[in-house]
Amino acid sequence: FMNWKILEERSYTPYSREPKACIVQGSSGAYYPGVRIENVSFPLTIPAIQAACCVCLADGDIPKSVIMKHDSYLEQLDFWTKEFDLEIKIQSGIDDILFSDPFVYIEPSEVKPELIGLLSDAITIHSNFPVSTLLLTAGGYISGVNIEVSDWTNGLCAERLTIAKAICYGIGDFKSMYLHTLKGEFSSPCGACRQVIHEHLPDNEINFFHADGTLSVHYTSDLLPLSFSSTSLTK
Ligand code: THU
Repeated sequence: FMNWKILEERSYTPYSREPKACIVQGSSGAYYPGVRIENVSFPLTIPAIQAACCVCLADGDIPKSVIMKHDSYLEQLDFWTKEFDLEIKIQSGIDDILFSDPFVYIEPSEVKPELIGLLSDAITIHSNFPVSTLLLTAGGYISGVNIEVSDWTNGLCAERLTIAKAICYGIGDFKSMYLHTLKGEFSSPCGACRQVIHEHLPDNEINFFHADGTLSVHYTSDLLPLSFSSTSLTK
């Protein structure tokens, strides 16, 4: 059973307290939840429609329509509707919509082969640099890859997409993250991802599988030393 209030409550908006939600339907017929995910560094905020479209694409589906509560402002709506020729559907009731199970059912020993297999799901039209991630949560593993769209600035790295996917599906209690690259000589999350990882996995282990098959394990605090935070910020 789903309604807009339940979906909006999955938003992560501790700074503005302005939750937003939408649902993207893919050409497969599957539905993808999208919620707004803020960051203490405001330009790193992930709009609901970006989260839903990128998760849809990472699952090998193509965004076809976007379902919204009413025609109020949804950040990046114009970009995504143009990008995929999305049909906009205004719907007050969403109780008949079911989302699929987002978990990947694997054992810890299967993390590395799973990451290698996932690399082929990445959409890298500009960079040809696929990245895959697995986020271990209390409920299991969530997977993701990097997604690039026509506008370079509106894609999502694998790390941020995976965190966004978990939050959109209402999953919390993040334990650790694993990432794998295909071509980089050394896997390492970008600055934007470090900031978002810091927000959601502040004291956790981040595991980098490098292209040569080796692994290095790091704590978030070492990836983003002297990070910005303030007790005066609403949270
Ligand atoms: N990328 C990731 O997904 N994660 C990283 O750790 C590094 C970079 C992506 C973003 C973009 O699609 C491509 O790799 C090149 O920057």
